Amino acid sequence: MAGSPRDRALTILHITDTHLHAAADSRMRGVTTYETFLSVLDHAQRDPRWPADVILATGDIVQDESRAGYQRFRASLEHFRIPVLSIPGNHDDPKLMDELLSTPPFQFGGELWLGPWSLILLSTYLAGEDAGGLGAARLHGLRKALSAHAGRHVLVCMHHHPLPMGSAWLDGVALRDAPEFLKIIGASPHVRAVLCGHVHQASDRQRNNVHFLSTPSTCAQFLPGSEFFALDDRPPGLRWLELFPDGRIETQVDWIQSRKRA
Ligand SMILES: [Fe+2]
Repeated sequence: MAGSPRDRALTILHITDTHLHAAADSRMRGVTTYETFLSVLDHAQRDPRWPADVILATGDIVQDESRAGYQRFRASLEHFRIPVLSIPGNHDDPKLMDELLSTPPFQFGGELWLGPWSLILLSTYLAGEDAGGLGAARLHGLRKALSAHAGRHVLVCMHHHPLPMGSAWLDGVALRDAPEFLKIIGASPHVRAVLCGHVHQASDRQRNNVHFLSTPSTCAQFLPGSEFFALDDRPPGLRWLELFPDGRIETQVDWIQSRKRA
């Protein structure tokens, strides 16, 4: 990686919804989630964009809220010595994440200054709910963070989706106060993109010059456009983002067929 972050593109590896368990061999929706997670990391390391400047994990790190699941996540990533940012999803335990994923190279929530870019990590976690929400305090915190980062390029990262996915069951567990959130984003011209997990599918939409992106899970995917819960047969995935000094974003989703090398 040559040059300072001021004059080159920054590379983000986005992984989401790893759904790890206390046991390494636990299966969920037909896949062993630890195995597919490792296959995604293996794939990423063979990409010319590796090593990324940041690894970003937008929630549902574990499925069973287990300490051992978070420890496995940590052990799989810490030897890369790359900052790993995370926020909680509906399946997570934010207290455990704060305890286990807050010391370098890990960061739980907050903000990251990266050259001319700022990453704002926004928790949408609501205890005991599958849907997400911000509420007055988090909305206020977002407004404050956005004004503190005025004049920079901002990437907002969250678990729950703020735009409908056109899938009734999934849109029933979306971000509840999306209108308030979108109003703030619409009034913040320095926000370049909003990135989420939770939906286990890829999407890329432009709304008033803001990219709204979702990324496939590192395990099983949901069938896009389905009224009721249904699995897609697409393989595990990841997303690369390249953030340019002028605020431009290039992004690509990779689908990973198999961990085994040819
Ligand atoms: Fe989720």
